[in-house]
Amino acid sequence: MRERESAGLTERFTELYGREPLLVQAPGRVNLIGEHTDYNEGFVFPAAIGFQTKIAIAKRRDRRCIVSSENYGERVEFDLNDLPNAPRGHWSDYVVGVVRLMERVCGPMPGANLLMNGDVPLGAGLSSSASLEVAVCKAFLEISGQRLDGVVIAQLCQQAENQFIGARCGIMDQFISVHGSKNHALRLDCRTLEYRVLPIPPDTKLVICNTMVSHSHSGGEYNDRRAECEAAAHYFAERVPGVKSLRDVTMDDFEKLGGGLSALVRKRCHHVLSENIRVLEAAEALQVGDLYLFGRLMASSHASLRDDFNVSSNELDLMVQLAHHQPGVYGSRMTGGGFGGCTINLVQENYVDEFKRTVGEGYKQQTGRQPEIYVSSAADGAGRLV
Ligand code: GLA
Repeated sequence: MRERESAGLTERFTELYGREPLLVQAPGRVNLIGEHTDYNEGFVFPAAIGFQTKIAIAKRRDRRCIVSSENYGERVEFDLNDLPNAPRGHWSDYVVGVVRLMERVCGPMPGANLLMNGDVPLGAGLSSSASLEVAVCKAFLEISGQRLDGVVIAQLCQQAENQFIGARCGIMDQFISVHGSKNHALRLDCRTLEYRVLPIPPDTKLVICNTMVSHSHSGGEYNDRRAECEAAAHYFAERVPGVKSLRDVTMDDFEKLGGGLSALVRKRCHHVLSENIRVLEAAEALQVGDLYLFGRLMASSHASLRDDFNVSSNELDLMVQLAHHQPGVYGSRMTGGGFGGCTINLVQENYVDEFKRTVGEGYKQQTGRQPEIYVSSAADGAGRLV
């Protein structure tokens, strides 16, 4: 199936540009637990999923780039000697943002023809943008013969999004798109970037429910949450020696000293501190195969995101509530930045069909919207396609 898709992309590239391309892919992700902790130097626990951005690419002799997107049915051209220096609210911003930084980090890149095709649902909180950024970076590395360490690739793509697009996202999405591991979730320490991969039991499926309410976080609310977390970190840094980010604040510090924070910032802070603890407990639960405990931690994470961090939505809450009434469900929560998007559900394999039917119908009945429900296993990270 995947081989057929790659062959199709190669064929269409050859027809379009008159020569054979190289192919790379980078996956989207789902986060099992650990939300809004990455930019607080805390812990996250994502897995790469079976949806990817694929890029076919071939070098040109000049410094022009021609980028065709099959998803948008559009073609964009730019000159590497005269790269746009501001985003224009277009999908090609992600390409330009990454290439600009690569030129700075690796030196001049060759011009290239690109054909892109992705199946990561857009605006669904499954990191279609990170997968595009990482695929672009991998594609240009391939044709330039340059090498970058996986951690550097993730950092470069995050910086492109922070500096060029203007979304102050953390490192999680780009990191997992590079480092994903088939059938494993990855517990990442976002301060040291050390990680551990832990197997997801083969009879447990990652079931992703798309509320079909689209999210966007180049917009204000995501950056607002970040600023609120920074305000909390700053408050504790003035009172507790050694605090650099919320990662360093303990529940004990919070209980003793948190009274001076505004009610809103207190809630944001409480979410981050409690979520970090949950990620560590969840990793231990997965290690010993206690999926019921893992599921309870997912439920607390959702409640905290809803009540303390205020990034859930009625549709996400409903989807989680519907899942909790289903047999064979270990856990359910919103995943990603929030304000719409998807829930992640850990579901025992034999119950997946029933889950899809009942949750799908229940959601449609109560909202009038037809949800999309994807069943995925954890996938490998970005790489060359043959
Ligand atoms: C978005 C960001 C990530 C992370 C999540 C919330 O996906 O891109 O860096 O902050 O939201 O956990």
